Amino acid sequence: MPLQIIRNDITKMHVDAIVNAANRSLLGGGGVDGAIHRAAGPELLEECRTLGGCETGQAKATKGYRLPARFVIHTVGPIWEGGGNGEPELLAACYRNSLNLARELGCESIAFPMISTGVYGYPKELALPIATRTIAEFLMENEMQVYLVVFGASGLAVSLKLFHDVRQFIDQNYVDEHTDRRQEAERKALWRQDREKALKHDQMLGESIFHDLFEATPLADSAPEPAENARPNLRRPAAAGPRPTAAPPDWEKMLRQTDEGFSQMLLRLIDEKGMTDAQCYKKANVDRKLFNKIKNNPGYRPGKPTVFAFAVALELSLGETKEMLEKAGFALSRSSKMDIVLEYFIGNGLYNVLEINEVLFQFDLPLLGSAA
Ligand code: APR
Repeated sequence: MPLQIIRNDITKMHVDAIVNAANRSLLGGGGVDGAIHRAAGPELLEECRTLGGCETGQAKATKGYRLPARFVIHTVGPIWEGGGNGEPELLAACYRNSLNLARELGCESIAFPMISTGVYGYPKELALPIATRTIAEFLMENEMQVYLVVFGASGLAVSLKLFHDVRQFIDQNYVDEHTDRRQEAERKALWRQDREKALKHDQMLGESIFHDLFEATPLADSAPEPAENARPNLRRPAAAGPRPTAAPPDWEKMLRQTDEGFSQMLLRLIDEKGMTDAQCYKKANVDRKLFNKIKNNPGYRPGKPTVFAFAVALELSLGETKEMLEKAGFALSRSSKMDIVLEYFIGNGLYNVLEINEVLFQFDLPLLGSAA
């Protein structure tokens, strides 16, 4: 997944470069700046002294010294003053210039903190989309593994309205594997109001569950119609007489109609949508290596997050998404919160993988894109 949002301490990241949210002097500070200098050791400050400072929005690189990362890319975010002093453009420049510098250094992976969202006061819910969209623009033209590191308890603030809408959709639709929460709520209300009635309701519920599970069917010889309130016959019907012999299937015809596999469906839809392979897998936040594996191996079975990522990138309907999931051996499930979040976005025609990942991250659910 070229852009991953993760919870971690950036000084622990084993990547080619980590980005430091520094100040214009580049001589250290608190927050992530302080953490990076503490972890890198005094040589980092020695090298920073030679750089002559850094303008807001610009980026300069040093070695990583005692850090696991080979390089530290220092950038200076804007101080939030209400948003009217070019803060959004300067913040975007921090991400863009850091990525371009990482590419010049030959980095294949890079980790960002949420620049300016600490003491510089940039509201997280405004900073996040700037970060993810600037990174996504870079990834449309370049190959690099990018991590956006969220630190500590400070959550990732997606827009409150979107978060609330998705939370409500989950609550309305998520059912545990074997309990229907809506039905449970009705039962509880009934038990509070009228015990007698609730008891009868439970008995009826119990019978209907047994009926469904054991599909009571009349015995082979024509059993009399059960009386209105008789308990359904729970015995398995005795083996009826010799089964009528079904006509042998037309194997030839069935093989011809064998469904196309997942990868054939994916490649067909890319063509039908007039996209290039690269446009599709980049929009799906899937890396090139995984896409080539899927393309060259018709029997390849991707993970569910990857199937969803392609469904969103291709802007499929819910029906087409279900079909694509089936080809990969999955079904849209109401007992999976991730599935319900995807049903919300696809059902509402919201096809931005980055925005969906921000919400999935907020709910601690797997993100869209290739698992690798
Ligand atoms: N790993 C990852 N992220 C971290 C870490 C860490 N170890 N420590 C802090 N953060 C996060 C904060 O939670 C915040 O979301 O980094 C983000 C940026 O916060 P700050 O470090 O305060 O940086 P910023 O808001 O850009 O202010 C820069 O602070 O440290 C000084 O010298 C720095 O003057 C400059 C100013």
